[in-house]
Amino acid sequence: SKKLKIGLFGFGVVGQGLHDIIRTKNLNIEIVKIAIKDPTKKRSLPAELFTTDKNELLQNPEINTIVELINDTEAAFDIVSTALKTGRNVVSASKKMIALHLQELIDLQKEHGTSLLYEASVCGSIPIIRNLEEYYDNELLHSISGIFNGSSNFVLSKGYNDNLDYETALKEAQDLGFAETDPTSDVGGYDAKYKLVIAAAHAYGLVIDPDEVLNIGIQTLSAYDLQYAREKKLKIKLVPVAKELDDTHATLFVLPKFVNKHEFLYNVDYEYNCVTVQAAFADQQFFYGKGAGGHPTGSAVLSDIAALRYDYQYEYKKAHQKEGLAFTNNVELNI
Ligand code: HSE
Repeated sequence: SKKLKIGLFGFGVVGQGLHDIIRTKNLNIEIVKIAIKDPTKKRSLPAELFTTDKNELLQNPEINTIVELINDTEAAFDIVSTALKTGRNVVSASKKMIALHLQELIDLQKEHGTSLLYEASVCGSIPIIRNLEEYYDNELLHSISGIFNGSSNFVLSKGYNDNLDYETALKEAQDLGFAETDPTSDVGGYDAKYKLVIAAAHAYGLVIDPDEVLNIGIQTLSAYDLQYAREKKLKIKLVPVAKELDDTHATLFVLPKFVNKHEFLYNVDYEYNCVTVQAAFADQQFFYGKGAGGHPTGSAVLSDIAALRYDYQYEYKKAHQKEGLAFTNNVELNI
């Protein structure tokens, strides 16, 4: 396997989590340079590893892989598209950027023969994108649902289980590094929507504009809603749903929903995420794991890096093509 020489954009919660895992496990992966926004921040690594100049990474011939873990959506798109155009494979966790630019990103990969992997962008540590790709006969996948936003779930659980008020719980989610820089994306259901759009693309092969998807967040809930849930022994969860209607149509939405104790979602609390898949023959399936945080999300980034190192996607596709099991969706990842 070839040695991956990485240019890392961003050294926040996920970037540090990733670095920590690579160092602890002594992996054959080298982070050559890290691009950051704020050079005055105190860092845990030698200063020469950092730069504020993106071109020190994007134009460095030694770097063959770009890992993009920054907050700024448009800057992220600029970095990722430049890298794909200049022959680098890319790993990204920027769900908003990917959901908003999915078609362009697919086209860029096809045009330039490069790959973009983004397992960490949906439900943190849960390997849901790869798993959705494994349902090779996607017409039989009726719906995808679950809990896709750790911060909202954290706030709801803290309120329900620990009686913590909304503002304090949200502040805690921010302090723990779960929430986005602008937490209205979390509590407004936007973050869950971006993840849902990405998941639907890999389940159904449909690229859906996030603007066409309804999202109502948990900031709309009243004390009365919570009291009602408690009295009825229900919980409230922020639930994204994607249902396939036919080969070219799906319906997607994100809403707060009452769940009862017999539902899988009931016991998914705090920063945990889950995905339920309803398939025609397999029936219901349930994936559960941490959806936010440095190490869980870093582990998903690493799974993509490993996939590039072993040319996993390429070998996998070749094997499937040989068996006549071509992918049924049109979201292709080219190596
Ligand atoms: N803000 C996100 C969440 C982080 O709370 O789920 C993981 O994507």
